[in-house]
Amino acid sequence: MRLNIGIDGPVGAGKSTVADAVAARLGILHLDTGAMYRGLGLTALRRGIDVQDEQAIIDLCNSLKFTVSHEADGQHTFVDGEDLTGLIRTQEVGMAASTVSRYAEVRKAMVRLQQQLAAETDMLLDGRDICTTVLPNATAKIYLTASAEERARRRWLELQKKGSDEPFEQVLEEVKARDDQDMNRPVEPLRQAEDAVLVDSTNLNFEQVVDAILAIVEEKRHG
Ligand code: DC
Repeated sequence: MRLNIGIDGPVGAGKSTVADAVAARLGILHLDTGAMYRGLGLTALRRGIDVQDEQAIIDLCNSLKFTVSHEADGQHTFVDGEDLTGLIRTQEVGMAASTVSRYAEVRKAMVRLQQQLAAETDMLLDGRDICTTVLPNATAKIYLTASAEERARRRWLELQKKGSDEPFEQVLEEVKARDDQDMNRPVEPLRQAEDAVLVDSTNLNFEQVVDAILAIVEEKRHG
């Protein structure tokens, strides 16, 4: 039987890095679905298309080909054959991704693509709607979260390492704005699936989070 694992959660919960480690330990691929929405958001920004213009974004989405590859250094995300991996991790692109992800037609296209990829091979997917929509029959479902303050603190530390002097208060405001947009959108808002297991990482270190998720996966696989 196909091993499919879903991890959902709000921005800054550490989903991507945790998902990478869990997938590596299980010897399966990790699909970062947020990167696909980011690819669309960045393409809109580059072409000067207003992310608030739903029809224009739907038309753009339908005209593009999204592909991913898995390399030694992780996932690479392509739009029309161009590798955008190094360009999509900014705050601006994250917010644009969050905006374009509100549109039902965009979500339909992305969900279909993600389901096709997950059907092809054993895979762990992380995102916002994996457990509720993309993989309703996933082997294991996890909702990974932490307090908004802790998520902002981690993001702030990351930014500091990169030489940014953005004040903590501003990072916290951005985290809250993303939460609001992701959790209160009308189409498939971020929420914990009924059958997902909650992992609150506020007081856990990285290894503890990875171990907790691996334990949940083992329990679901072997009972
Ligand atoms: O996980 P991320 O920060 O890279 O995601 C960027 C945005 O994409 C996020 O704010 C909401 C959207 N997204 C989504 O709606 N569904 C997903 N499965 C993944 C991301």
